[in-house]
Amino acid sequence: MWATAMLVIFFVSLCSAQPGEHIDWPRWCGKAYMPEYPDFNPGGQLLKPQMQKFSTLNIRVKPRYNVFIADESEGEFFVHAETSDYHGVPWPHMEDEDLLYPFDVNFTITNTATGELLVQDELNATIKLHNATSDRPIYRFKFDLGKFQPRIDPYEVTVNATPIPKRRAKSLDYKPRRPDSFPVKQPPRKEEFPLDRHRQYIFTTKSEIYVLPTKSKGNVVRIDNLTGGLFLRSSPGSKFEPFFPYGFYAPCEGFLCHENSVENIKAYRSHGLNSMVPMMPASATSWDVYSTLDSVGVRYMYDLRQSYKNQSAVREQVEAIKDSDGLYAYWTFDQPDGHSATHARMWKASSLVKKLDPYHPIAVSLVCDNYYFEEYSRGADIIVADAHPIGSGASKWHTSCNATYGSCGCDNCKGNVVDVATRLQRMAQYERWLNHWPKPKMQNLQTSHSGENSLPVSPSANEVIAMSALALANGARGVLPWAWPVDNETTALHEKFSHVMNKDIVSELLTKSPARKFKVKKHKELEVTYWMLNKTLMLSVVNLGKKSLRGPMVIDLPGIQPTKITTVLWGSAAWDHRELFKPKGMKLQIMAVDPLSTNIILSMLCCDDGPSHSEFND
Ligand SMILES: *[C@@H]1O[C@H](CO)[C@@H](O)[C@H](O)[C@H]1NC(C)=O
Ligand SMILES: *[C@@H]1O[C@H](CO)[C@@H](O)[C@H](O)[C@H]1NC(C)=O
Ligand SMILES: *[C@@H]1O[C@H](CO)[C@@H](O)[C@H](O)[C@H]1NC(C)=O
Ligand SMILES: *[C@@H]1O[C@H](CO)[C@@H](O)[C@H](O)[C@H]1NC(C)=O
Ligand SMILES: *[C@@H]1O[C@H](CO)[C@@H](O)[C@H](O)[C@H]1NC(C)=O
Ligand SMILES: *[C@@H]1O[C@H](CO)[C@@H](O)[C@H](O)[C@H]1NC(C)=O
Ligand SMILES: *[C@@H]1O[C@H](CO)[C@@H](O)[C@H](O)[C@H]1NC(C)=O
Ligand SMILES: *[C@@H]1O[C@H](CO)[C@@H](O)[C@H](O)[C@H]1NC(C)=O
Repeated sequence: MWATAMLVIFFVSLCSAQPGEHIDWPRWCGKAYMPEYPDFNPGGQLLKPQMQKFSTLNIRVKPRYNVFIADESEGEFFVHAETSDYHGVPWPHMEDEDLLYPFDVNFTITNTATGELLVQDELNATIKLHNATSDRPIYRFKFDLGKFQPRIDPYEVTVNATPIPKRRAKSLDYKPRRPDSFPVKQPPRKEEFPLDRHRQYIFTTKSEIYVLPTKSKGNVVRIDNLTGGLFLRSSPGSKFEPFFPYGFYAPCEGFLCHENSVENIKAYRSHGLNSMVPMMPASATSWDVYSTLDSVGVRYMYDLRQSYKNQSAVREQVEAIKDSDGLYAYWTFDQPDGHSATHARMWKASSLVKKLDPYHPIAVSLVCDNYYFEEYSRGADIIVADAHPIGSGASKWHTSCNATYGSCGCDNCKGNVVDVATRLQRMAQYERWLNHWPKPKMQNLQTSHSGENSLPVSPSANEVIAMSALALANGARGVLPWAWPVDNETTALHEKFSHVMNKDIVSELLTKSPARKFKVKKHKELEVTYWMLNKTLMLSVVNLGKKSLRGPMVIDLPGIQPTKITTVLWGSAAWDHRELFKPKGMKLQIMAVDPLSTNIILSMLCCDDGPSHSEFND
């Protein structure tokens, strides 16, 4: 995308400013493109929201999946409830300091149009609500999906919440959670609560749900709103299986449109790559490329980035591809932030795609660190982080920007692998600031030197794998290396790594469970992440330091007893594994870790009476 980005920046950005803004020089992420211009920021930066006057109850409701299918019988809503200083509404006794909890929450979810009741239940404000962190607790409520007539358009649902006064329980351990610097405020006066016309407290919020007709042809790909993972089912009635895309961007020229394209695609698949982002739309002459991808089992994100501004082109393209076997998402927008694309056109394209094919998610790739994030991600279900740090060597975008290396590399990057983690963390941060339910992220992975406008340096093998591992550690639900074809050495590296990614248990862990972080005391340079599902632990250790570390270094994961390393998935670190501290039981130790190396293992977990690791399972 570097190459396309650059061309488009030069030729398009001159005339595609934000509405109402006059731009007379090219720019990138809102900054002047030419080094001789000083930083130019016309706005578009998200900031931390203002603290509210009162502590509030923040309730968000989402359907479990972004789409349900008519042949399923059970639907499910998630209700996320927390006390907040930034979002939500005042709630009775939230501000009290008299050791009493806020009132419990009585809520209903109804079909807005018909008023039909879908869920009526209560949230216990005692303990859980007051102790909620930003991503907990999530309450789950099932309902009968048959209450919705299947259709292509979404239904709106309304959530009403009222307090349950008599349940106000006495607390033993509640301490005001407000920081000292921010004094406890006066509780709100009655007029400051949301009240209905009888002056009774009522908090109302809305959400939407898709209940789609069963599809007879082609697959369905949906997002689990709990984990952000993708799930795919290839035919009606079959089970949704976890799908973790690991596959390159691939050009028409010299590869997909080459006379040997069938052989090329087969060779690509033989390296274990399960997916691809073909950088070309289907046309009369290129249709067989897509049938080949379908037949060899390479799933793809379909390229709409050139046509999204043209409604009839979108219609034509989506109609042609929507029922194919291999489609897993639409790559509808490519770096619209870098190009300063007009927002409204994106949103229009996005609603058209949803009308034509709500069975597949829409992706946007974002190149800027913080530039109209809300607007540029609004039309998409998936955000692809497009940070290529290695060789950008620039803390400011314009420092190494010249005619040769047109693209300025990586917006607000430091120029090392950690930028990948930082970018994904910032996106998650922006979503928290906006009070959005997080969208799944994928990583556009810098992997080789390609294209005339690309960065001058290729990352080393260690850097490529470390960037992948850091992306996974920060919740990426797909890894899309840029760009095929690559040299034999790079191919071999990705072939080896894709074998790890393709293991059933690995894709299951990555799509069904959250990545958790852990810090090793005295070794902050070790980036430790783990995933758990049932009795399986996956542990990833990346040494971000410049020195080899010699162990033993104990990785004492809280409340977890790994009992047996079953597979070393990646890396050459020496592991040890024994009962270290009675009665704490088995602990893992890592003995030697090379600089910038990535080490991933699978281990079994103890014990039947141990903590449940299945909170994210069905
Ligand atoms: C959750 O579901 C809603 C409603 O279908 C959808 O709009 C939203 O994008 C989903 N969120 C994620 C993270 O998938
Ligand atoms: C909760 O709300 C429902 C319907 O709005 C009502 O029937 C029920 O009595 C309420 N429960 C409590 C404990 O207030
Ligand atoms: C709420 O949770 C607390 C702690 O688990 C429990 O003691 C209390 O009975 C619960 N209240 C209701 C109404 O379920
Ligand atoms: C709630 O959080 C406080 C402070 O972190 C902690 O001391 C207390 O044990 C927690 N209570 C429960 C029931 O989890
Ligand atoms: C829009 O797309 C249609 C269908 O592909 C095409 O015929 C038309 O020329 C396009 N319009 C523009 C302005 O590119
Ligand atoms: C751009 O910068 C690179 C690296 O500093 C240098 O090799 C190259 O000659 C420069 N190109 C121009 C046109 O100045
Ligand atoms: C790369 O691998 C291909 C296929 O195995 C082989 O034909 C080719 O000679 C190799 N290229 C180099 C530079 O080793
Ligand atoms: C986890 O355990 C549950 C219940 O025992 C089982 O249904 C499920 O298949 C298991 N999942 C995996 C990934 O093993």
